[in-house]
Amino acid sequence: MKLRTPVLRTACLLAVWISCAGAGVAHAADAAKGGNAQAGRDKVSMCIGCHGIADYKTAFPEVYRVPMIAGQNAKYIENALNAYKKGERSHPTMDAVAGSLSDQDIADIAAYYANLK
Ligand code: HEC
Repeated sequence: MKLRTPVLRTACLLAVWISCAGAGVAHAADAAKGGNAQAGRDKVSMCIGCHGIADYKTAFPEVYRVPMIAGQNAKYIENALNAYKKGERSHPTMDAVAGSLSDQDIADIAAYYANLK
């Protein structure tokens, strides 16, 4: 896939993300490369409170089990965040969180969490 070219990747991160989004789960590894895990690391401060704690349950707005996303497939994380952002999937906190993220943020965060063990 030509998307592996470093220059292209840097110059067209968004384009890479869009093309990978259409490619589905099969290209999870490519999706992770589209996002920058290093950049994602600086963007997850607001996620850690809920997703960083094993077996954590939210107290607000209702007691709810928080899914583990560390080590999750990057494509899956991207899809989930986009689904909340577009309203295809709904959860009060996640709708607000995802709505505040740009496509690049989502790609970076997905890459970060996918590489987190
Ligand atoms: C206040 C707590 C809270 C915060 C903050 C939060 N989340 Fe979530 N997140 C949840 C809960 C609860 C769910 C499950 C909602 C559902 O079932 O739809 C969820 C679901 C998800 C999912 C889907 C997981 C799956 O297995 O389907 C992803 C991906 C995700 N969050 C990523 C993030 C990211 C990235 C951030 C930070 C930018 C973040 N969340 C911030 C509580 C939170």
